[in-house]
Amino acid sequence: MFGELIAGLRKNPKTIVFTEGTDARILEASSRLLTSNFLTPLLVGSEEDIMKASEDSGFNIRGAKIVDPARYERFDEMVDMFCELRKSKGVTPEDARKMLSKSNYFGTMLVKMGEADCLLGGATYSTADTVRPALQLIKTKPGNNIVSSCFILVRERATGDNEVIAMADCAINISPCEDELVEIATEAAACAKKFGIDPKIAFLSYSTFGSGKGEDVDKMRNACAKAKEVIKDYPVEGEIQFDAAVSPRVARTKCPESILQGHANTFIFPDINAGNIGYKIAQRLGGFSAYGPILLGLNAPVNDLSRGCNPEEVYSMAIVTAALAD
Ligand SMILES: CC(C)(COP(=O)(O)OP(=O)(O)OC[C@H]1O[C@@H](n2cnc3c(N)ncnc32)[C@H](O)[C@@H]1OP(=O)(O)O)[C@@H](O)C(=O)NCCC(=O)NCCS
Repeated sequence: MFGELIAGLRKNPKTIVFTEGTDARILEASSRLLTSNFLTPLLVGSEEDIMKASEDSGFNIRGAKIVDPARYERFDEMVDMFCELRKSKGVTPEDARKMLSKSNYFGTMLVKMGEADCLLGGATYSTADTVRPALQLIKTKPGNNIVSSCFILVRERATGDNEVIAMADCAINISPCEDELVEIATEAAACAKKFGIDPKIAFLSYSTFGSGKGEDVDKMRNACAKAKEVIKDYPVEGEIQFDAAVSPRVARTKCPESILQGHANTFIFPDINAGNIGYKIAQRLGGFSAYGPILLGLNAPVNDLSRGCNPEEVYSMAIVTAALAD
């Protein structure tokens, strides 16, 4: 998967903002990116602090862009744009200057102003502090009502090729309603496609085609019916249990009329509890590498790292993030 993503970026190189410019893991990933020519790191922070951190950690970041909020020449323009974007909240220039002194808001505005194509944060910021500026400033794409997320999970098969699946929403929306689930499925399928998956979408539940009863079952069944009205390019099925969605043998027993026949690869969970637990089981017990959360529905790619991330994860998430930029 990464070979194809890098080949695409080589044809169309990008710039990525890292909000935590002095973090050693960010510096290591940046130095690795700089040895190739497909993705330029833009490190937010004071030049002095970043250069000292790179010397201390021993990573060469020559060629990286460094932008210091305190010395940024377009700062006044940024403040005006920030106030305009947040005018419904009555944000004053003084409020804006204060918020833009923080690298999460500042870095997000660099993407908004076209100084970079995408952003990766969260090495030290919490998920909410990385995602919130994107929700408020980058905002949802026209036609979308929510930002959601998916994970791309990759596992090597014995045959040497990769098994690639998508799971959503495992990280943002706590209890999506039916219409939100439709939007999550639409966006997750489009994202899955970009990572080489031919989407086959399953709306997961503890029930298969009415075998169980309850509000949550109804929610997934209704959401699936609505999704079928709008998703015309890919097969969509539900409500369905995970085993019937992934095992042809179980599908033959539980739902012989199934169109997916146990070959689902894009999984829509009823809520964040199920989704977050589900992807972690695939990762920790199923041997899948997990890439994400990949935010869906924003006007430009912004992604969140886990605070426990390592340099390899920063490097791969940077490539995943940049691959999603226009
Ligand atoms: C996304 C999330 C981080 C936002 O948290 P938050 O900033 O505290 O949320 P708020 O309700 O204060 O919303 C902040 C802004 O984002 C907007 N927003 C919140 N959720 C949104 C969504 N899913 N899509 C689009 N906009 C959203 C709000 O409308 C609000 O905009 P405003 O400031 O213009 O009014 C929150 O949904 C969350 O905590 N999700 C779970 C994250 C998590 O713990 N994941 C598990 C580990 S990965």
